[in-house]
Amino acid sequence: MKDSQTTMYDHSEIKVRLLDTYIQKYLNILSRAPHISKVHLYDLFCGEGIYENGGEGSPIIFLKAIKNVFYRNQHQGQKTIPVDCVFNDIKTSKTEKLKRIIEEKKLHYPSFGDLRFRNINYTEAIPKVIRQISRLKNEKAFVFIDPYGYKEVRASHIKSILDTKRAEVLLFLPTQFMFRFERKGAPEALLTFIEDLVPKGMWPNSHTGIDFIENLKSIFREYLGEDHFVDTFIITREKNQYFCLFFFTSHIYGFDKMLEAKWELDAEEGRGHSIVQPEALPLFSDPSIKINNKLESFLLEFLEEPRTNGEIYKAILHLGFKPKHAVDVLKTLYSSSRISVTPIGRIKIKKGAFYINYSEFSENPNKVSIQLK
Ligand SMILES: C[S@@+](CC[C@H](N)C(=O)[O-])C[C@H]1O[C@@H](n2cnc3c(N)ncnc32)[C@H](O)[C@@H]1O
Repeated sequence: MKDSQTTMYDHSEIKVRLLDTYIQKYLNILSRAPHISKVHLYDLFCGEGIYENGGEGSPIIFLKAIKNVFYRNQHQGQKTIPVDCVFNDIKTSKTEKLKRIIEEKKLHYPSFGDLRFRNINYTEAIPKVIRQISRLKNEKAFVFIDPYGYKEVRASHIKSILDTKRAEVLLFLPTQFMFRFERKGAPEALLTFIEDLVPKGMWPNSHTGIDFIENLKSIFREYLGEDHFVDTFIITREKNQYFCLFFFTSHIYGFDKMLEAKWELDAEEGRGHSIVQPEALPLFSDPSIKINNKLESFLLEFLEEPRTNGEIYKAILHLGFKPKHAVDVLKTLYSSSRISVTPIGRIKIKKGAFYINYSEFSENPNKVSIQLK
């Protein structure tokens, strides 16, 4: 058995840290949303829970987050909502070990929601999961797909899950192996995966592992269309070895929160996490400068036409930046008189305010028009 299957390595640790940061935010928000009555978590390649070196896997992260949010809400007199979990792994021995750990560590009580264990092949489980999610009313689902490889996973699965409009997906892909194969002449599994996304022969060449991830992200974005959001979190294992978490949602607020989680873990570029120590940064280097430069060039082009606050919010998220980043750049452009901010209709606006956030997007997406002077 490969060592990576029984020992939790750093890259897996970073993977579960992102999962942890996100799932806490996700459960917090949903448990307080007035119209949501239940959450369903599906961990379709769940593993055994705790590795031989003590590293915690995804089911433990999920259960700890559920427990935390439950008790916090209870303590604060807030409503609590049930979170139903399905932990699936093709190997019964893994879910049996997981069950024992959950009992020993008292990680679950019935008041938190249902807890189910399954030992179904992912390929058979996925249509069932999609059917269950599409029947949900006032309920939401989160699907975590964390295979060793990628041969079972198809882009069309992700699309069907998103089309239900009730779920978000986090998918881990061993992109470094996919990239290596691409260079050597793609094997059947990679071709099958790619052909779902682009017509034969249209897959762009990638020069590096990072290029491969960027290409895959753009192609996913095109394949899924404007209404669905895609972003990546790159995990660097060794020099030039890149693995990647893909996050998909049809809900813009869910995406906003995912970007927050990602930027929390990587304040510099929000792109991913490096295990190898980065080379010493030059003195006085300010990470925000890099973000601002990228965003500024985008906004300078985007604002050649007048854009509403809602349009800017959506465009910024599609690029993988937080609304706050856009506001910082707009402030600079505004203070050097390079943009104008005009109210739409007869409303009063505050000087120097841009209204780029989720609540304005959902309630007043056409409040102001912003344009280059
Ligand atoms: C990368 S590990 C999952 C790690 C886990 N998510 C964690 O954070 O600890 C992949 C798991 O998928 C299981 N598996 C492999 N092929 C599968 C399949 N076709 N369907 C369901 N589970 C499968 C393996 O037994 C293994 O436990």
